[in-house]
Amino acid sequence: MKKVKKAVIPVAGLGTRILPASKSVPKEMLPVVDKPLIQYIVEECLASGIEDIILITRQGKEAIENHFDTDFELETVLEQKGKREILAIVKDIVQMMNIISVRQKHPLGLGHAILCAKPLIFDEPFAVLLPDDLVDSEEPCIGQLIEVFEETGAPVVAVERVPKEEIFRYGVVNPEPIRENLYRARSFIEKPAIDEAPSDLGIIGRYILTPEIFNILERIPFGRGGELQLTDALNRFAKMNSVYAYTFKGKRYDAGDKLGYLKANVAYGLKDPKLKKKFKAFLKEIVGKE
Ligand code: G1P
Repeated sequence: MKKVKKAVIPVAGLGTRILPASKSVPKEMLPVVDKPLIQYIVEECLASGIEDIILITRQGKEAIENHFDTDFELETVLEQKGKREILAIVKDIVQMMNIISVRQKHPLGLGHAILCAKPLIFDEPFAVLLPDDLVDSEEPCIGQLIEVFEETGAPVVAVERVPKEEIFRYGVVNPEPIRENLYRARSFIEKPAIDEAPSDLGIIGRYILTPEIFNILERIPFGRGGELQLTDALNRFAKMNSVYAYTFKGKRYDAGDKLGYLKANVAYGLKDPKLKKKFKAFLKEIVGKE
């Protein structure tokens, strides 16, 4: 079986949920503590054995590519000033991963974004990571899915239980339990109403897919919101083949949403060895005053 070596990261979204912060700064570049969101996602790939990142991007998102490219001026200044520690960090980001960019020329949805990666995937399985979803876990979330893929040889999506009143925000799986944490997906539905949802297992932005998904994406009609939906393609795939849903180990933050973004900053701030003591004291102080 071929190994998962490539990851597709769609970054062409407008980030409307976190405006105005995302008006002229790509939402993927908003920091959680001291790193932009996209860097956490790339680091997750790196820790999971992925070798190439395929960014599905658009005009105005160049800051993301620049972040992973050499900045000679910055490096020279840091070198001259003897700021070795931060220079090493800046250089590491450039070494981190091979980044390939593809433009999504029209905003036609997640399924369409994935389809833009077709010429670069050939006949390999590949990972998809949505950068809004930050997952804090001991074993990287996409690495957990790769393990399931290596066991089953079939596509797998990360899921978590979501409150009923929020189910309309997610792709939802109709699950057949296989063992603890693992389900075979009978079907999928994108953003159902509460009474249409087949379960409370919502898809989180982590997937391992196989290239057959491209043929389906090329054939299915546009779905919810007038967009080409990845969930609809998975639903079609699940009718003929096995697709799995896996409840990953870890804590997920929806960092594309204002509250989720704040929660991620607090949680990651409290984990930062240099900040945590003073930050915790500060939080206690202000929460105590409420
Ligand atoms: C996308 C997917 C949805 C999934 C969600 C996870 O929706 O279409 O199936 O549950 O990501 O974050 P979006 O949040 O981009 O509308």
